[in-house]
Amino acid sequence: MFHSRVLFSLYTLLQLWTKATGVDDRQFPSNFKFGVATASYQVEGAWDEDGKGENIWDHLTHTTPDLIYDGSNGDIACDSYHKLEEDLALIKDLGVDFYRLSLSWSRILPTGHIDGQINEAGVAYYEDILTKLQENDIQAMVTLYHWDLPQPLQEHMGGWLNDTIVDVYGNYARLAFDLFGDKVQYWATFNEPHVVCQQGYESGRKAPAITKAPGIDLYTCAHMVLKSHAKAYHIYDSEYRATQKGKISIVLNTNWYEPVSDDEKDLEAAERNGQFSFGWFANPIVHGNYPQVMIDRIGERSEKEGFDKSRLPEFTSQEIEDIKGTYDFIGLNHYTTSLAEWIEDYEIGEPSSNKDISVKGSLDDSWESSASSWLKVVPWGIRKLTKWIKDTYNNPEIIITENGFSDNGDTLDDPRRINYYREYLSSLLEAIYDDGVNVTAYTAWSLMDNFEWLQGYSEKFGFYSVNFSDPDRPRTPKTSVKYYKTVLETRCLVEECVE
Ligand code: GAL
Repeated sequence: MFHSRVLFSLYTLLQLWTKATGVDDRQFPSNFKFGVATASYQVEGAWDEDGKGENIWDHLTHTTPDLIYDGSNGDIACDSYHKLEEDLALIKDLGVDFYRLSLSWSRILPTGHIDGQINEAGVAYYEDILTKLQENDIQAMVTLYHWDLPQPLQEHMGGWLNDTIVDVYGNYARLAFDLFGDKVQYWATFNEPHVVCQQGYESGRKAPAITKAPGIDLYTCAHMVLKSHAKAYHIYDSEYRATQKGKISIVLNTNWYEPVSDDEKDLEAAERNGQFSFGWFANPIVHGNYPQVMIDRIGERSEKEGFDKSRLPEFTSQEIEDIKGTYDFIGLNHYTTSLAEWIEDYEIGEPSSNKDISVKGSLDDSWESSASSWLKVVPWGIRKLTKWIKDTYNNPEIIITENGFSDNGDTLDDPRRINYYREYLSSLLEAIYDDGVNVTAYTAWSLMDNFEWLQGYSEKFGFYSVNFSDPDRPRTPKTSVKYYKTVLETRCLVEECVE
C-alpha cells in the first residue's frame, strides 16, 4: 500500500515536472519513423584500402592538416569499414526503423567515372551493410553524396563548377540504383548542397576549400548540383521506381532565422535569409526556379559591379521543367536557430554571397550552448521552420534527416544531449499536431562520435562514444542511448502519453 502510494506520488511529481517543463505528452503517429545517421567519410576510415580512390576530403586533410582543429583526418575514423557487425549491433540495439548512411563515391568508382573500374570490394561492402539491414528489418536511407567527391573529378574537371559533372554524377547515381536499389527505401541525392557550395567554393570551410571567386563559384556549384540532382531523380523515376518502389529527394540544411524584432524590415530580412539559404535549393525543386529575391538582388548587384550578366546562373525553360517537382519528400537537416536583423545593403565592391544577402546574423546569449560555436539549443525553431516550409512549399512531406547536439565527450553521461532531443522532439510534436505539418520521420545525428570535418574529433555528436586513441576503436553507449531507445519503444516523450 505504502509502496504504491510512493510510486503514485512519484508518478504525479513526474507528470507535474513534465507539464512544468512543457514536454509534449502526445504520442508520435503510429506510422512515424525514427532513425539514426552517419556519413561515409566521417566513420568509414580505410581511406586507401581495397582499391578505394582518393577523395577531396582525403586530399584536403592530407595536404593541409592545419585546417583541421586537431590536425586529424578520416584515414581510420571509426573504422566502420572493418566493423560492420559491431555497428549493426549498435543500430539494432537502438531499435531504429531506419539507418541513414552515405556511399563513398570513390570506394565504388575510384576515378569517379563509370568507365573507370568499378571497385568490387567497395560494392561488396555496401551490399553487405544493406543486406544485413534488410535481414534485420531496418530500412535504409542512402545519401549518394555526403561531400566526398572523387579527387580526380576535382583535379581534372574542376568538380562542381564543370557542366560535365552532371552526366558523370548521373552515371554514378544509376550505378548505385542498379546495384543497391532493391534494398533502399529512401535515396538522398545530395547532403546539404548549401554547405557543399558555400563552404566548398566560397568560405573554404569544407573541401575542396576553394575561395577564388566569391559571389560567383558558389552559385555555379549550386547550379550544377541542382541539375545533377534532377538528373538522378529522373533516372530513378523512369528506370527504377516502378520495380524498386523507393522514394528519392535531396537533403537541405537550414537554421530557422528569427527576426530580431517585429519591425517589417526585420521580418523581411529574416525571410530573405531563409530564401538565400533553404530557398536557394527548395525553390527550384518545388517551384522550378531560384527565389525571386535571389534573382533580383544578385542581378542588380552584378550589374552595378560591372558584370555583363548576373552572377546567379539562369536555368533554361527546359531545365526549369526538369528540376521542378524532383522530390518525393523534403529532407531537412536542422540543428539550430539564429537571429536576423535588417541592415543597409553592403556597398558595391568585391562580390560575395554575404553581401548579396546583406542581413546581420547573431545568436541570443541566453540560448544554451553546445560544443559547436554555431549550435545553440533553440527547440521552438524546429516548429517555426517546419511550419514555414509547409506554408512556403505546398505542404510537402518532410523528413528530418539530421538533428543533434554536440559536447566534448568528457563523460558518458550526457544529460544535455538527452534534453536537446527531448525538447526538439517535443516541439516537433507541436508542429505535427498543432500546425498540421507533414513530418513523417526523424533522424538523430549521430550513431557514434566521428570525424566532425574541420573540427576533427573535438566535437562529439554520437549516441555511442568511440575511443579514437585505441586502435580497436571500441564503442561505448552514452546515457542518451537509453533515452532514445525508450522514445522509440514508447513513441512518447513522457512517462505515459495521452492516446
Ligand atoms: C551536418 C552534416 C553532418 C554533421 C553535422 C554536425 O551539417 O551533414 O555531416 O557533421 O552537420 O555538424
